[in-house]
Amino acid sequence: MQAHPTQDIMAKRPTKDLRGPKIVAIPPGPKSKAAMARKERFITNGVKVALPIDVTAAQGPFVQDADGNVYIDLGGGIGVQTAGHRPPSVVRAAKDELDRLTHISFMVATYPGYTDLAARMAEICPPGLTKSIFLNSGSEAIENAVKISRAATKRAWLVSFKTAFHGRTLLDISLTGKDKPYREGFGPLVREVILADYAYPYRDPQGLPPAECAKARVEEIERLINQPEVAGRVAAILAEPVQGEGGMIVPPKEFFPALRKLCDAHGIVLVDDEVQAGMGRTGRLWAIENWNTVPDLLVSGKAVGGGLPFGGVTGKPAIMDRPAPGSLGGTFGGNPVVCAAALKAIDVIRKALPKTRKLEALIRKRLEEIFEGHEAVGEVRGIGAMWALEFVKDRRTKEPDAELARAVQMAGLKNGLILLTAGFFNNCIRLLPPINIPLPLMSKALDLLEDSLDLALVGKAS
Ligand SMILES: Cc1ncc(COP(=O)(O)O)c(C=O)c1O
Repeated sequence: MQAHPTQDIMAKRPTKDLRGPKIVAIPPGPKSKAAMARKERFITNGVKVALPIDVTAAQGPFVQDADGNVYIDLGGGIGVQTAGHRPPSVVRAAKDELDRLTHISFMVATYPGYTDLAARMAEICPPGLTKSIFLNSGSEAIENAVKISRAATKRAWLVSFKTAFHGRTLLDISLTGKDKPYREGFGPLVREVILADYAYPYRDPQGLPPAECAKARVEEIERLINQPEVAGRVAAILAEPVQGEGGMIVPPKEFFPALRKLCDAHGIVLVDDEVQAGMGRTGRLWAIENWNTVPDLLVSGKAVGGGLPFGGVTGKPAIMDRPAPGSLGGTFGGNPVVCAAALKAIDVIRKALPKTRKLEALIRKRLEEIFEGHEAVGEVRGIGAMWALEFVKDRRTKEPDAELARAVQMAGLKNGLILLTAGFFNNCIRLLPPINIPLPLMSKALDLLEDSLDLALVGKAS
């Protein structure tokens, strides 16, 4: 078996002393290039890697690659590392649990971590949401939320949004509007899905201002669910409280209360997908708290696991208890090591939560300056520690500029930043920094982001 080219680095990777940004070999350096060649050889093309680097270590806001470069991580492994990489108490709790119990399956016997985490979720979730199931990913949790909603209502139809992202399984891609790369070639999909327009004022189909946009989009959903084939047969509306993959779309404050009203009027389960926006990301523990709305089911994931694979559904007992005994579960869901990590991750994030306010103010101010100085930025938007710059070829026509977003991402890498793209048109750069990132470091990162945009624009012009 050919050795991994970065094995020597793996053996002596630094952790606590990681500091950056520091570029010692313009990425991709030789070791990262070799790793990418191995990826091409052994891993399906269906898995695309956004950045051509081979990561060997991470700590706090920093990530190191095999060539010794250190980056400021504004992606957090797709919105997972909300309190930074490897918070010491989370790592310690996971290691301690590894020494006690790695697996028994909650379908075989109870163990303290699962029930402790469920009790904690009952404490911290919106009022009345007191029963949980734990899974291995956000995708699997969405699947379970739909199964539970269907069992509770004995109805088949589902409503979600064109700019939504709910995961990668066949059901989840049926609930996700973007064809490429998520749906194309994988049909037939689940037929009983209505994809509506989210309240996305920047691209509202009628060009309405925020409050009117929220009202019009909910009225449109009401029209759609009253179509003859669907009327009285909608089990659930699934909505992200801030759309992440869609490009950090923050809905107007009127949107969720109106969705809640609609669900109440029609006996529909309101499923709040907090996989990306939840657990501290928006400055509140749950993003839906920003909208003064209590959902029926809350789907959690990503940050809750503190870096380990996690998904959860927490909801009202009258709904959560409807599926028959044995109809929900899975071999690994709520694994003891993950639960131990999650219990600590929740503590760490709750403690860091007050820091989000200053971080938000800093990001908002700098992004607005970048917007003012660059015609290519159509909009900057966000909340808490989830932000996006949406790039356009023309501010008036709002024609998306996906190439520019990609160019900024690659220039950012060379500048020592890990950046992720997003958006229905792939034309956004999104920022998901740890909420406890030191403010001077975030300032530095935003300066580097602006410089990366300037470099990308120069590259485009030449
Ligand atoms: C809002 C939302 N829901 C569900 C998912 C799927 O989660 P996972 O990738 O853990 O399956 C994601 C992942 O990005 C997400 O952002």
